[in-house]
Amino acid sequence: MYRIMYLSRAVVRFSDEELEELLLKARQNNSKKNVTGLLILKGRSFLQCLEGKKEDVLAIFEKIKNDSRHDSLVEVIEEEDSKRYFPNWYMGYKTINELDEVRTKKLIDFSEAKNINAFSHNDISEIFKEFIEVK
Ligand SMILES: Cc1cc2nc3c(=O)[nH]c(=O)nc-3n(C[C@H](O)[C@H](O)[C@H](O)COP(=O)(O)O)c2cc1C
Repeated sequence: MYRIMYLSRAVVRFSDEELEELLLKARQNNSKKNVTGLLILKGRSFLQCLEGKKEDVLAIFEKIKNDSRHDSLVEVIEEEDSKRYFPNWYMGYKTINELDEVRTKKLIDFSEAKNINAFSHNDISEIFKEFIEVK
């Protein structure tokens, strides 16, 4: 299993309708390839995790990278793992309000950071792990 996590910034703030449409499209495409993940939104900042078969994740990521609705896309983590974080979400969606205080602060610092390298792999993983479903 292959995972990518990245950060990007929307060119303009998405309306609720635009977000809904984006998620619908993402879920349609991802379900066909059994790609799962989570999208976290904070203002204009997106943090997204995509996981599945490497070639499928990379093909979807390529489309996302070319999407003109966002820019300043920074790939943060790519890794192999034995298990998915989000096996049941073709594309889950969360807003920052659903994070606890410590992680909210981490995400805010992260999304406003000029130097993305100041953030560790661990910090980013921690934010996503907050949302991992407990079965
Ligand atoms: C922040 C963000 C996240 C996205 N996530 C996904 C995704 O998980 N899967 C997907 O297929 N498209 C996603 N998209 C949309 C793609 O950029 C692209 O518009 C879409 O894949 C095109 O689909 P189509 O080739 O079926 O027309 C995302 C776009 C943005 C801006």
